[in-house]
Amino acid sequence: MSTRSLVATAAAAVLVVGACVAGLATAPADNALDNGLALTPQMGFNNWNSTQCSSTFNEKMIEGIADLFVSSGLKDAGYEYVNLDDCWALPTRDANGNLVADPVRFPNGIKAVADYVHSKGLKFGLYSSAGTKTCSDDAGFPGSLGHEQQDADLWASWGVDYLKYDNCNNDGRSAKQRYTTMRDALLATGRPILYAICEWGESEPWTWAAPVGNSWRTTLDITDTYSSMVSNYEANIQLGQYAGPGHWNDPDMLEIGNGGMTDLEYRSQFSLWSMMAAPLIIGTDIREATPATMEILSDSDVIAVDQDPLGVQGTEISSANGLHVITKPLENGDRAVALFNETDAAATISTTATAVGLPKASGYTVKDLWAGTSAESAGGISAVVPPHGTTMVRVRAGGD
Ligand code: GLA
Repeated sequence: MSTRSLVATAAAAVLVVGACVAGLATAPADNALDNGLALTPQMGFNNWNSTQCSSTFNEKMIEGIADLFVSSGLKDAGYEYVNLDDCWALPTRDANGNLVADPVRFPNGIKAVADYVHSKGLKFGLYSSAGTKTCSDDAGFPGSLGHEQQDADLWASWGVDYLKYDNCNNDGRSAKQRYTTMRDALLATGRPILYAICEWGESEPWTWAAPVGNSWRTTLDITDTYSSMVSNYEANIQLGQYAGPGHWNDPDMLEIGNGGMTDLEYRSQFSLWSMMAAPLIIGTDIREATPATMEILSDSDVIAVDQDPLGVQGTEISSANGLHVITKPLENGDRAVALFNETDAAATISTTATAVGLPKASGYTVKDLWAGTSAESAGGISAVVPPHGTTMVRVRAGGD
């Protein structure tokens, strides 16, 4: 076998290509929610990971994020939704039972923010809980359980395009029933509203939510640590068969840029989330982001893997000793391959073009997506991957 090596990334990845076979399948979801949305995983911003309920979370921030989506190129890279999380409302409904925006954070109301976001050619998202109250115990904000249609109608009148619907204070009632009631309320508004179920995987929503929501959280909340990121990855990667266009597994939002991981680890999060066709929801305040953060979030080759129209979540073909090989079929017949070194020591991770599902061919073209370099190869795919790093390649049967 002839091989040619390619010193690829700052991570000193060395790629080699050799030969083997794999079959990948998505579960058919004939009954999936058909609201025409999230045919590829949703991309956008949500303030929670960076602000939680601090006073930074306000109209100025959200409008600044919308501005930056346009001026920094993130909009062109595919990011579309600018979303508010918990703590946007007052603790009590008004005399008519309507939710009311916190006048300190949002002095012009929510519709004004939505209008601003729309004026930038972007879409706007909001948050509530399928419970009596939302999750923050700050002041106890009202949830939407029992108010589904009234709230959905109000949001539609404000121009809401996306709902993240949480699971706190649910009185022990059936998740499937609570989330289905809101699905029906959203559909009844007549406004297309992407519906992101945030049930934390508690009642295995992947087994029932394809007809209900456009995505469902599969795990508890991510934190800005390497161990949390890996733990969410390891739970979510097992669930590939349940994902597809319009209905995605959601391992929670991106922590990239928030400071608790290295840029190498953040690059791993972006690689792994993209291999899993996960929603890419930026969770850092990009008004203060470093160039490295913006580069990671804007990588068009990696985003193209996440957004590939075939809509198949990647699967692991091996993970022995914390050395993970993940493969994802792409619409044009290429395979994306990620080599993730979970361990604390540099390691060589190897597979082959046929093992990742490509047909036998006399040669392969291997593009290192983070380095932007390409090499010809005979079949084996191998890289020296630094601790906590990920080498991500796109492999095509047949040389150039
Ligand atoms: C839950 C959700 C988080 C966030 C908070 C807000 O913990 O899982 O993503 O929305 O509530 O209180």
